[in-house]
Amino acid sequence: MAEALSFRGNFGHPPAATASAHGRVNLIGEHTDYCDGFVLPTLIRPKVMVSLSLHSDGVIKGISDGFPAAEVPLAPTDSQSWLCFAQGAVHLLNAGGAQIKGANIAVSSEIPAGAGVSSSAALELALLRAFIACTGQEFSDTELALMGQKIEHDFVGTQCGIMDQMAVAKASWGEALFLDCRSHETHLVQLPADAYLAVIHSGSKRSLSSSLYNQRLAETKQAAMDMGVVSLREASIGQLALISEPVIQQRARHVLSENERVLAAKEALSAGDLAELGDLMLASHRSLQTDYEVSSAVLDQLVDSAMAAGALGARLTGAGFGGCMIALLPKSGAEDAIAAILADNPAAWLVDAITG
Ligand code: GLA
Repeated sequence: MAEALSFRGNFGHPPAATASAHGRVNLIGEHTDYCDGFVLPTLIRPKVMVSLSLHSDGVIKGISDGFPAAEVPLAPTDSQSWLCFAQGAVHLLNAGGAQIKGANIAVSSEIPAGAGVSSSAALELALLRAFIACTGQEFSDTELALMGQKIEHDFVGTQCGIMDQMAVAKASWGEALFLDCRSHETHLVQLPADAYLAVIHSGSKRSLSSSLYNQRLAETKQAAMDMGVVSLREASIGQLALISEPVIQQRARHVLSENERVLAAKEALSAGDLAELGDLMLASHRSLQTDYEVSSAVLDQLVDSAMAAGALGARLTGAGFGGCMIALLPKSGAEDAIAAILADNPAAWLVDAITG
């Protein structure tokens, strides 16, 4: 594998390891992962590449095509440097027996940041893969995904669920990864040959995402408490009346109905029923728009354009509040449909197109 950026040119020696990780797009199952629910993501082509070497200077030096060059101490600090991802990885790997005392790191990324296609999870997985290629440690993909999530929670400060890291660590080309976020059981579902998924950036970056994301997390916890269950996974739609606050009831209704949609989407995908899958995707968007309130005017407009251009279904993907849409298009005429959507939305651009 070629090295990331010009590792050699910057650090004066070749990297000891280079690893990569792809971004993901979620077909359906949004804001369900932190409620122990179901999700159905797949990989996208854009990826993150990490080259690194180890040394014993007690610092991590990093260059990246997305962030300024930086140097941080090995031990995690409060500084908001992008190298907190690497500090987290080193901390967890050393806790697992490695003796990393310093590193030079180069990162190049093709994945748009803040767009709902997991640039962070891909960075975490690429870093972990490159580091363990040097330390010789062995971890399963699930263990790596859980470490990626821990980096996010403890070192980056985002209280995300497990979908992104599991998708990046375990999904494979041409298949959707059905994931039960409670048991971590996975099941690969082949994408039908006539499926065409367009991942389109709305042109607007996520805004206010972490505070609103954490607020939704708290609201679902409140909903579970009101319903007397540990997580919304244990609740049923019939129990919604136990929640007295209308907004909390709305949030729970999204999560419970979205879990049902993911199960139905898995069946539709397996049966090659794209019309049904499209209907479920659009219903997911409407639920995210009205009950969960994580869409934006720009995303809604993009979804409407996709439907007007002949999409079978379309929805925001990722956390929402900006970022990307995924549209399921009939394979014949997909390129024309994409051209029509982009013409309608001048700030939008095609991130990837996935075919079965
Ligand atoms: C972000 C989080 C995920 C998940 C999605 C919403 O991508 O990192 O864990 O909660 O939002 O489905």
